[in-house]
Amino acid sequence: MSILDPAGPAASAQFWVWWAMLGVSVVVALVLFVLWLYTFRRREPVQRTPREEQRIMLRWVIGGGILLPLVSIVALLVFAAPTGRGMIPLPLPEGEAERIEVVGHQWWWEIRYPGENGEPDVVTANRLVMPAGEPVDFRLVSADVIHAFWIPRLGGKRDMVPGRYTTIRLEADEPSVFGAQCAEFCGTQHTGMLLHVEAMEREDYDAWLSERRAPREPQEGFDEAREAFGEHCAACHTVEGFPQELVDDDLPHAMVGPDLTDIGSRPTLGAGVLPMQEGAIAYWLEHHQTLKPGNRMPPHNHIDTETLQDIGAWLETMEP
Ligand code: CUA
Repeated sequence: MSILDPAGPAASAQFWVWWAMLGVSVVVALVLFVLWLYTFRRREPVQRTPREEQRIMLRWVIGGGILLPLVSIVALLVFAAPTGRGMIPLPLPEGEAERIEVVGHQWWWEIRYPGENGEPDVVTANRLVMPAGEPVDFRLVSADVIHAFWIPRLGGKRDMVPGRYTTIRLEADEPSVFGAQCAEFCGTQHTGMLLHVEAMEREDYDAWLSERRAPREPQEGFDEAREAFGEHCAACHTVEGFPQELVDDDLPHAMVGPDLTDIGSRPTLGAGVLPMQEGAIAYWLEHHQTLKPGNRMPPHNHIDTETLQDIGAWLETMEP
């Protein structure tokens, strides 16, 4: 997660502005430092005539009051050009840019991929998959407080404001994996709001999406786990294709917590706080308030460990 390791055109533009400003700042600081040292030199008191005093004063007015500000203005203008260029959105590809919606929540990320009619038809959480080698428009919004979307190696950083959509266009040069982090203080777990970003070749991305668009096969087995999930979890979490009669609530599509439809395929749990591995979900369900204190999921003290392990084992099978 370093801005000094750019992996896309927007980040590269910002990277060069960063180095140029650092270079100039170092030169300015050095000059000032030398001038400051110069003031310590020993001097004999001099007697000057009023005329000489006037001439020295005039020199200060011209040098410090006119020339120096002029040089500063020119230097600022020189910086303004590349900075402005870096802020102009990347050019659009032929046709429309891929559009991905990102919703900030305390303290996790909801990612929505629009389908044919513009309605989100693939919803996932805490793992952002994007095509590489083409600009992508990220439409950003928040479900609660102000968050900020930031993939340091791709550039940018943009606020996610409740009730207002903002867009940032980013591009990844090559398929790779990037770290991302919420960049606006948003509460106790602000630092625990990590996002795993994967840039893929276009065809892999399309395959990834269509795999998730394919209708779910009705599941066999895990009856007890699914029953417990319906009772304890389904009011907040959605699993695509989950039988509605098992849900202890009449919400058609619960969006309080992350959509769990493909949770088994995610690299982390709790927005980056726990790596996904066998048994990790059950462990998270039991200890999530210790692993990520203050997170919005209530503690599960009223559910026995065996049931939590059942639910965890079932959720681990949730892959497209
Ligand atoms: Cu979300 Cu900080």
